[in-house]
Amino acid sequence: MEAVGVVTAVGPGLTGRKVGDLVAYAGNPMGAYAEEQILPAEKVVPVPPSIDPIIAASVMLKGMTAQFLVRQCFKVERGHTVLIHAAAGGVGSLLCQWANALGATVIGTVSTKAKAAQAKDDGCHHVILYKEEDFVTRVNEITSGKGVEVVYDSVGKDTFEVMDDALLLILLSGSLACLKLRGYMVNFGQSSGTPDPVPLSALAAKSLFLTRPTLMHYTVTRDELLQTASEVFTNVGAGVLRVRVNHTYPLSQAAQAHADLENRKTSGSVVLIPDGYYGDGNILQKTHQENKSIHRGCIAAKKRRSKAASPPQTTYLRHLHPTTVLSCLKVPIYVFKCVPSFHTYSKINKFQQIKEQMFGD
Ligand SMILES: NC(=O)c1ccc[n+]([C@@H]2O[C@H](COP(=O)([O-])OP(=O)(O)OC[C@H]3O[C@@H](n4cnc5c(N)ncnc54)[C@H](OP(=O)(O)O)[C@@H]3O)[C@@H](O)[C@H]2O)c1
Repeated sequence: MEAVGVVTAVGPGLTGRKVGDLVAYAGNPMGAYAEEQILPAEKVVPVPPSIDPIIAASVMLKGMTAQFLVRQCFKVERGHTVLIHAAAGGVGSLLCQWANALGATVIGTVSTKAKAAQAKDDGCHHVILYKEEDFVTRVNEITSGKGVEVVYDSVGKDTFEVMDDALLLILLSGSLACLKLRGYMVNFGQSSGTPDPVPLSALAAKSLFLTRPTLMHYTVTRDELLQTASEVFTNVGAGVLRVRVNHTYPLSQAAQAHADLENRKTSGSVVLIPDGYYGDGNILQKTHQENKSIHRGCIAAKKRRSKAASPPQTTYLRHLHPTTVLSCLKVPIYVFKCVPSFHTYSKINKFQQIKEQMFGD
């Protein structure tokens, strides 16, 4: 769902994007698993030169998610108390830092002491080990029974419990029970499974607000996307957000990365790097050298395809290796002709078909 790559071709009429640009995307159209990817230009954002591509790959989806959660969905302000579950996760780490920077008192939940140390370092004023302690009781103690303004819950089933009996109006449990009157319950993920349904009447106990937002609906327009990404990159550049790239794997070890993620062994961001580019400590330079030869190829390809019609507002990325979920750094090598659609073309055989139609090879 997110990646960083280099533009290798642009559709005619497209301005503001050129071959060689380092760009990032997050969310739809999905395709980080694909070897090659076609993206509508409106979906990619330029990566500022000051941001390392690996940092950009680590922060794109997670950072924009943190942005919309604390700045749009529920606006965190000085004096608020917020509860952030999975505070040491990729999104959690950034959420803690951002909420702290906005002046909130931050309570985080984590599963291990090592993760607790990271969460503290990320600005959590109180950390709860939710596998050992009852987090509702602890939040109650910390807030002297007042509760928190907002809960950011990505864990889902395990933390988002509701009572299912006639006492719903007076008894809430799990995350909902941590809220103060008119508090905001923001469930944005379900790492432990889908939460149980909530009867509307349960919210009446404290006049609560409940939302299940997704990033895509907060970055619908080009302006919204650019604004959200820009805030993230600005905060990274200014040091407000420290991106924790705690794990990098060669792409060939993607299965191991998935296993570690599922087993809750990871914290912060996880990045997959195409194997040829892994571990040499100089990815940027290698990408740059690669880009020079890409650029020469681009000019030749441009001449070949100059007469063919293609739709505007389309950007191609081609990647050296199949990539997978998590944050991926991708390195493109070829230029292809632009085509009108993108979702289906992320499949390699379809891409081949298009290539043959366009270039006859
Ligand atoms: N709505 C949106 O637009 C949006 C955008 C981005 C991400 N998300 C969602 O947000 C969630 C967090 O994303 P992330 O990138 O921060 O993931 P992550 O780094 O893997 O963090 C997930 C954390 O959840 C905790 N967890 C609790 N129960 C778990 C279980 N049964 N299995 C695995 N982990 C469990 C773990 O922390 P502990 O070990 O400390 O418990 C784990 O580290 C995901 O569910 C993702 O789908 C939603």
